[in-house]
Amino acid sequence: MPLLTVNQLDKTVDNNHILKNIDFQISKGEVIVVIGPSGSGKTTFISNLNFLNNADKGEMNFRDKKIDLSSPKKDDVLWVRRHIAMVFQNYNLFKNKTALENITEGLIHGQGKSRDEANQIALEELKNVGLSEKKDAYPSQLSGGQKQRIGIARATALKPDIILFDEPTSALDPELVGTVVQDMDHLAQQGQTMIVVTHLMSFAKKVATKVLFFADGAILESGTPDQIFNHPKEKRTKEFLSAIAEDR
Ligand SMILES: Nc1ncnc2c1ncn2[C@@H]1O[C@H](COP(=O)(O)OP(=O)(O)OP(=O)(O)O)[C@@H](O)[C@H]1O
Ligand SMILES: [Mg+2]
Repeated sequence: MPLLTVNQLDKTVDNNHILKNIDFQISKGEVIVVIGPSGSGKTTFISNLNFLNNADKGEMNFRDKKIDLSSPKKDDVLWVRRHIAMVFQNYNLFKNKTALENITEGLIHGQGKSRDEANQIALEELKNVGLSEKKDAYPSQLSGGQKQRIGIARATALKPDIILFDEPTSALDPELVGTVVQDMDHLAQQGQTMIVVTHLMSFAKKVATKVLFFADGAILESGTPDQIFNHPKEKRTKEFLSAIAEDR
């Protein structure tokens, strides 16, 4: 029984058909990596899963609850966001809050935890990402890699069923990518269910249970990392993979 199923997710903006009848499912413990060309709809797709934007059509089935993706009830949106967390490409940290406060914010205001309990959880999460000594630092005092590790700590603190990652390493200097990948690797080994938009093939090959190739707003091809990276069937997939291989 999948943890999350999406049926016929569809979205058009200004005559631009961004997502075309997407069917998707993920089970507990799966790590699904999403790849595909710029503009193919990857960000729009994962943002839909925690209602950062709305679809025109589609239905979500999450933890046995059915939710209409085009007109979700406000309570359902809040409920989904308590269980599906997101890590952003550009961190999206509150600039006027410390590392610790960035993590406690959702625990206190989203999950109704007391400040003491939230602080305790946040300190533990900071320890997990090796940033205990940065608890009182503001985002402007942190490197990109450190900001992203705070972004990850903020997501994991919520103990979400699923964490969505949107190109979490693409804004980082190359030498900082490793630390963030290490955190994601660690989460995957612990059985965290994750959907990760990334072109880091080594990460995908190591931890993905499934790879989805997005093109023109649809899942053109999906399979195991071996199937997609070593034996792609579609011409678009082959072209995309050789283009990103040239980057490395
Ligand atoms: N709010 C919006 N209004 C209008 N068009 C949008 C909006 N958001 C996204 N789009 C369009 O939807 C399409 C998909 O965008 P999306 O950001 O999901 O692609 P992506 O696969 O994440 O690309 P990238 O790899 O560059 O991040 C693009 O054509 C984009 O221009
Ligand atoms: Mg994107």
